[in-house]
Amino acid sequence: MALLIKNGEIVTADSRYVADIWCEGETITHIAPDIEVPAGAEVIDASGKYVFPGFIDPHTHIYLPFMGTYSKDDYESGTKAALIGGTTTIFDMCTPGRGTTPLEGFETWTRQASGKAACDYAFHVGVAGFDESTPAQLREIVAKGIGSFKIFLAYKGALGIDDEELYETLRIAKELGVITAAHCENSTLISSLQKDLLARGVTGTEGHHASRPPRVEAEGVHHLMTFAELTGASVYIVHLSCVEALEEALRARLRGVDVSIETLIQYLLIDKNYAELGNFEGAKYVMSPPLRDASNQPILWNALRQGLIQTVATDHAPFDFFTQKRMGEHDFTKIPNGIPAIEDRVNLLYTHGVAEGRLDLQTFVAVASTNAAKTFNLFPRKGTIQPGCDADLVVYDPAYRGTISAATQTQNVDYNAFEGWEIKGKPTHVSVRGQLAVRDGKFVGTPGRGRLLRTTR
Ligand code: URP
Ligand code: ZN
Ligand code: ZN
Ligand code: ZN
Repeated sequence: MALLIKNGEIVTADSRYVADIWCEGETITHIAPDIEVPAGAEVIDASGKYVFPGFIDPHTHIYLPFMGTYSKDDYESGTKAALIGGTTTIFDMCTPGRGTTPLEGFETWTRQASGKAACDYAFHVGVAGFDESTPAQLREIVAKGIGSFKIFLAYKGALGIDDEELYETLRIAKELGVITAAHCENSTLISSLQKDLLARGVTGTEGHHASRPPRVEAEGVHHLMTFAELTGASVYIVHLSCVEALEEALRARLRGVDVSIETLIQYLLIDKNYAELGNFEGAKYVMSPPLRDASNQPILWNALRQGLIQTVATDHAPFDFFTQKRMGEHDFTKIPNGIPAIEDRVNLLYTHGVAEGRLDLQTFVAVASTNAAKTFNLFPRKGTIQPGCDADLVVYDPAYRGTISAATQTQNVDYNAFEGWEIKGKPTHVSVRGQLAVRDGKFVGTPGRGRLLRTTR
């Protein structure tokens, strides 16, 4: 199997030049101008197009038992959607609930993904409790090649952990040299505020933001930073949404806490007004932390440009509007949280970042691919284009113009939060380890070919 991509403009996080890329087997073997076309090779003419390293979504929920239901994609539909949108590696959150051990969670998520995933994947393995068996389990999981844990400071009683468990998890993460991804919201404040709102008769979607205001997230970040500082553990804040939370993280970074920060494409582009649309339409936009006031958006874009925020993810968590979101029609606390975006993240970030002048091409590649690879020990195998690395490549047409719609999407959910939005650019060809998974915008990949990646150092 050989693949030759000719005449494209190669763009990585630190370079930009026109050359051909020759891939043999699963890896890039040669990059040079005017490589001769060998017999039998698949040749793609990328003239007038960019060639990017495969994009990495560091935060998805393809399989997610949550709030009394399950997210809609499976690893086949979710990874097909990812690939069509240019994402060649996902980090799925393996999130066993309280009462289920990390090892059981790891086994369940591995079973769900294997034989189905069409792109490569890694897991952040969830710790939703801590007893005397947990340290040995976490050691075993790291020995299997898992380099990151996941914890929730929110979702009390379901996924969330208490302070003692937080301390113990970070302590062992530090000992094992792995990074801990954390959902930062203060769960006690959320449940108290929810109770107060419901008692006052606030049952609609407007209650969601009111029960999780920016200070609730900022307090979650502050809390994590304190524990990270005192344990010396490396941490990764998932889905940071607002300036208050960013300030807490940056203050901690200044005093030496090893913290990386992720925001989401949703927070960069849509705001809290969407979650308050009438006719229960707002439920499509309910996620946690909530969509924020639009005044946060220029600050998040600026933080990306300045390198203060490292990654843009999706937190892809698809729940159907007509059935699953309706579970919370009379009580906002029962709306399954999540806004799907795995298919559209890259095109939206390119359109509103690069095409509209908010991000340069290098920063775009960094925040959508390279920085995740570096943070989670996949670099330089993933996240860049150079001989020796996996041939995960995206041929991207910046001249494409189109519109996002649920009617034409691959992700398995009955709505799209970006319905009708124009995109300026789209992948034409996408390869996973040297094999085309998207040709001329159509999925041609192989479900089951995706591999679980080792993310330990
Ligand atoms: O609303 C969200 N974010 N849903 C998915 C679960 C989580 O908190 O990441
Ligand atoms: Zn979360
Ligand atoms: Zn606190
Ligand atoms: Zn999430």
